[in-house]
Amino acid sequence: MALQAFSVLVTMIMAIAHRAYGSGRGSTGLVSGFIDPPIVGICSTSVIIHGYKCQEIDVKTQDGFILNMQRIPEGRAGGGDTKRQPVLIQHGVLVDGMTWLLNPPEQNLPLILADKGFDVWIANARGTRYSCRHTSLQPYEPGFWNWSWDELVVFDLPAVFDYVYSQTGQKAHYVGHSLGTLTALASFSEGLLVDKLKSAVLLSPIAYLGHMNSALDVAAAKAFVEITTLFGMAEFNPKGEPVANFLRALCGYPGVDCYDLLTSISGKNCCLNASTVDLFLKNEPQSTSTKNMVHLAQTVRDGVLAKYNYGNPDFNMMHYGEAKPPIYNLSNIPHDLPLFISYGGQDALSDVRDVELLLDSLKFHDVDKLTIQYIKDYAHADFIMGVTAKDIVYNQVVSFFNHQH
Ligand SMILES: *[C@@H]1O[C@H](CO)[C@@H](O)[C@H](O)[C@H]1NC(C)=O
Ligand SMILES: *[C@@H]1O[C@H](CO)[C@@H](O)[C@H](O)[C@H]1NC(C)=O
Ligand SMILES: *[C@@H]1O[C@H](CO)[C@@H](O)[C@H](O)[C@H]1NC(C)=O
Repeated sequence: MALQAFSVLVTMIMAIAHRAYGSGRGSTGLVSGFIDPPIVGICSTSVIIHGYKCQEIDVKTQDGFILNMQRIPEGRAGGGDTKRQPVLIQHGVLVDGMTWLLNPPEQNLPLILADKGFDVWIANARGTRYSCRHTSLQPYEPGFWNWSWDELVVFDLPAVFDYVYSQTGQKAHYVGHSLGTLTALASFSEGLLVDKLKSAVLLSPIAYLGHMNSALDVAAAKAFVEITTLFGMAEFNPKGEPVANFLRALCGYPGVDCYDLLTSISGKNCCLNASTVDLFLKNEPQSTSTKNMVHLAQTVRDGVLAKYNYGNPDFNMMHYGEAKPPIYNLSNIPHDLPLFISYGGQDALSDVRDVELLLDSLKFHDVDKLTIQYIKDYAHADFIMGVTAKDIVYNQVVSFFNHQH
């Protein structure tokens, strides 16, 4: 079960990297390790060109990472001088904030929210191209990549939430996709963020990962072992040589189809636009840390949501004062926190059975604070790039936000 599930994560990278190779682009287009703030950033490539205002912002985490954000303060029609409700949008693993903006403006979530009167903030996790900066460490140093999603919970999310709060004086709505739901749920269960949060929308939620399914189980069984020995404490750059070689080797396994990109990654997406997928391939995937990938694999393997496992009781004792890593108990999420959860029937990463486990852990949530949407035809990427997402998902998100007072 564990390795089977982990395969999806590896497959995700494998499929994207291989496809980028096959089509002759990608491997040279992206240099990780920006030291200076980006000059040509997400605002100029993906927002301003559509006639929206957009501001590039850098936010520092307590452990020294410099995170890039975009703020879209108003819609195309203007009107930003009136007080607007902030919404913070957080992407998933191996992509960055640009994935939200790949569809045309009428179809993508940030610009729809801006046009509906929200003050929109897009976060970019540490390690992604515009957030690959630190006050003292360089990306070529192992210490730069010494973190897992625990640090996203402890440092990244608080940094961006605090910043939005300091600028707007208002609690923010949150939208997370994939890993952006896991880190949010873990945060809320620890009582973090909730004092600066109005409500949360979780698209393709992942918390429990024991049921992920994919065609590539066999290949991945080996991958789990190799991944740590190959990359150690380092950058996991899907476009770099070591990872690409590794992935190419995996693609040689019988039955592994590296060309049917998004299907093997994320399930059978019903509703993607071919031009959008092309844009996606030009811009993603992004780096993360190997430690983060290993932590995700542990989440898959152990079927519980726990902190990073250092691999033996002594090391865990040293870090946590306990032989086993402490769990994130989702039952501790405040029962009156307004939540909107949307999940798809075709999602290979956020499997329906795992979402049911998540919903079970929320069974004591106040009934009127929990909205659940199930979309039979949707897979993982439909939630960010589907051409029907506006009608099916985003309109519900807007109306959910408008109902919170
Ligand atoms: C697909 O994306 C292209 C480029 O953004 C756009 O012109 C086209 O209208 C989109 N098609 C659909 C069906 O939304
Ligand atoms: C990574 O961080 C831990 C503390 O969380 C520390 O014990 C370890 O030495 C660090 N390793 C590197 C390579 O920086
Ligand atoms: C999680 O918390 C709930 C209530 O606070 C408790 O009943 C349950 O035993 C906890 N679960 C674990 C695995 O510790």
